[in-house]
Amino acid sequence: MAYFASALAFLALLLWSRITDADPQANLILNACSLINVTNTTAFAATINRTFADLHSTISSAAPSSSDSHFATAQNSDPQFYALFQCRGYLSTADCLTCFSAAEVHIRRYCGPANGARVVYDGCFLRYEITPFFDQNTGRGNGNICGKRNSTSGFAAAVPPLLEDLSNATPKTPDFFAAAERDGVFGIAQCVNSVSVEGCGQCLTTAVNNAELCLPLADGRAMDTGCFMRYSNESFFPTNQTMDLSPFLNSGRSSKRRAIIWGVAGGVGGLLLLLGLVTLLWMRRPRDQQDRKGDILGATELQGPLNFRYKDLKKATNNFSKDNKLGEGGFGDVYKGILKNRTTVAVKRLAIAQISRARADFQTEVKLISNVHHRNLIRLHGCSSKGKDFLLVYEYMANSSLDKFIFGDRRGFLNWKQRFSIIVGMARGLSYLHQEFHVCIIHRDIKCSNILLDDDFQPRIADFGLVRLLPEDKSHLSTRFAGTLGYTAPEYAIQGQLSEKVDTYSFGVVVLEIISGRKNYDMKLEPDAQYLLEWVWKLYELDQLIELVDETLDPSEFSPEEVKRIIEIALLCTQSAAASRPTMSEIVVMLLGQSDNTLELTGPTFIDASSRVHGDTPPATILSSTSHATDSISQVSAR
Ligand SMILES: *[C@@H]1O[C@H](CO)[C@@H](O)[C@H](O)[C@H]1NC(C)=O
Ligand SMILES: *[C@@H]1O[C@H](CO)[C@@H](O)[C@H](O)[C@H]1NC(C)=O
Ligand SMILES: *[C@@H]1O[C@H](CO)[C@@H](O)[C@H](O)[C@H]1NC(C)=O
Ligand SMILES: *[C@@H]1O[C@H](CO)[C@@H](O)[C@H](O)[C@H]1NC(C)=O
Ligand SMILES: *[C@@H]1O[C@H](CO)[C@@H](O)[C@H](O)[C@H]1NC(C)=O
Ligand SMILES: *[C@@H]1O[C@H](CO)[C@@H](O)[C@H](O)[C@H]1NC(C)=O
Repeated sequence: MAYFASALAFLALLLWSRITDADPQANLILNACSLINVTNTTAFAATINRTFADLHSTISSAAPSSSDSHFATAQNSDPQFYALFQCRGYLSTADCLTCFSAAEVHIRRYCGPANGARVVYDGCFLRYEITPFFDQNTGRGNGNICGKRNSTSGFAAAVPPLLEDLSNATPKTPDFFAAAERDGVFGIAQCVNSVSVEGCGQCLTTAVNNAELCLPLADGRAMDTGCFMRYSNESFFPTNQTMDLSPFLNSGRSSKRRAIIWGVAGGVGGLLLLLGLVTLLWMRRPRDQQDRKGDILGATELQGPLNFRYKDLKKATNNFSKDNKLGEGGFGDVYKGILKNRTTVAVKRLAIAQISRARADFQTEVKLISNVHHRNLIRLHGCSSKGKDFLLVYEYMANSSLDKFIFGDRRGFLNWKQRFSIIVGMARGLSYLHQEFHVCIIHRDIKCSNILLDDDFQPRIADFGLVRLLPEDKSHLSTRFAGTLGYTAPEYAIQGQLSEKVDTYSFGVVVLEIISGRKNYDMKLEPDAQYLLEWVWKLYELDQLIELVDETLDPSEFSPEEVKRIIEIALLCTQSAAASRPTMSEIVVMLLGQSDNTLELTGPTFIDASSRVHGDTPPATILSSTSHATDSISQVSAR
């Protein structure tokens, strides 16, 4: 018994020393609760427990290198509840979870039944609301917390240049996080992963100003709804987390120009933002203005789809004129529109109104889509309808779609780094749709023309969720909606079997197109191979994958080993057995993994397991299923 007790004591000691060794930085720096309480506290307690458990499991089950290991959102209904958690990019997973536990306990104890709350620690940030807020970047409650000690001379002058660089670099980093040290100044900047690249930039611009107000004190922090920034004269993160910011900064001249523009915009920006907000609120129909007053945290004034006035959109698009037309998609034509507040938007006129579900259902689906917030997914601002005309209003992407840059008139423009970051962004966006959003949304029509590019050439997936507007039984019968020939997984094209792996397959095809600069059905390939996939397989067998690489890419920009690894990941995605394709979140981890992490991809593994062939035999299953798919699609569409 005594032995048992001392063993326990030893274990406790061990655990204790492990905990104290690490530093979760769970020192509270800010908390705020809404003044309004929820009405049904019993139901609320159950929802809060479920949602926090979801957050915990996302963080704890994520691979340490994936962005999910430091950021999670979760939402639940009955009652509606949205929560977001983020820990600083430099914390280990264990420290991150410790900080989460501290935040969770504190937010419950301190805010009780409040309908919105947030707590900020040096190490992490937890927030919940009963309305969506994931895309908010700056808002009421932004401010700073300064240290107490004066700095030594010279320090105060060294802080602003570092903060400026951090704020310029962070929106371009893969994880929205940067840490650096320069001239004795340690600094970090971080955005929540659910805001857009522009939102991150705007938030950090405000944060730089707030943090600099702490000077000449030796320690300062700025926090906001979408970002966090901190500087200090003492190191507060492991030195091996320090990053080289230069790859994320523009070359001297343009970065200066940007800084100047932002400097000017800083003052005017707030006013414009306010004006925009007022305009948008004014454009809402009165019946949408429900009881939202009194929320001190200003959760989300703009939640849910806005109901635009049909005649405003008609005017914005010049009466849907040909000159304003941006393109034709599977679901209808898209027009460029300029709203009264001078915001440019893309207006999609749905061509499926006749067969779409009842109007009430339409509203529900649109509401669902408009609540999807991810920086690699196009934002739906709102909708409008008149008679049988249904309009969707999206954010506008001036750089148009990926196909223009891969096969079209801007072919050869994108370098390897840009292409790689597009591949990772697409994978992240799809992983969000499949696994992180509270409803699993399968896109079903991933192709180059559905991937739009923002001003920084980051990908934004378009057209997700729209297929849900179709009646169940019609959704896979026509090629027009079922996806596009050549991108479509065989089991879906032939039997209509739908799973997330349908998107995995199309993703793999798009990756091969991005790397090769060729269409998946390019007839100008090798004489005996018609399809890109077939050709890649042949190159794989011959160990010549590197020949796939687009000749417009500068060979000095990429390592052949890295490109080869990405091609192999794409091949894993296009295996004919859906079960053997990885999920999108696995793909994100693979893409970001180290190159010595060899993939188990032997020849026959990406042929259907039931018809295993060996060595140099041609990939029978791929060939037959490809041509089979072609046949059955043309039969279906001919009906
Ligand atoms: C909200 O609930 C808390 C804790 O139960 C209570 O102290 C507070 O007065 C309530 N606030 C309002 C506005 O009812
Ligand atoms: C609160 O919600 C629970 C579960 O949703 C429900 O059973 C209960 O009747 C509700 N109570 C009130 C007062 O509405
Ligand atoms: C929610 O979790 C708290 C603390 O973990 C617990 O005390 C409470 O009983 C739980 N409530 C419900 C409704 O599950
Ligand atoms: C910091 O230094 C300034 C001027 O050098 C002085 O006015 C101020 O009182 C000092 N503050 C603290 C907290 O020591
Ligand atoms: C940071 O500044 C404080 C206050 O001036 C000083 O006591 C401390 O030694 C400084 N730390 C470093 C690492 O320079
Ligand atoms: C940084 O160093 C710590 C040990 O000091 C180590 O556990 C960790 O893996 C290192 N991180 C990176 C990214 O190299």
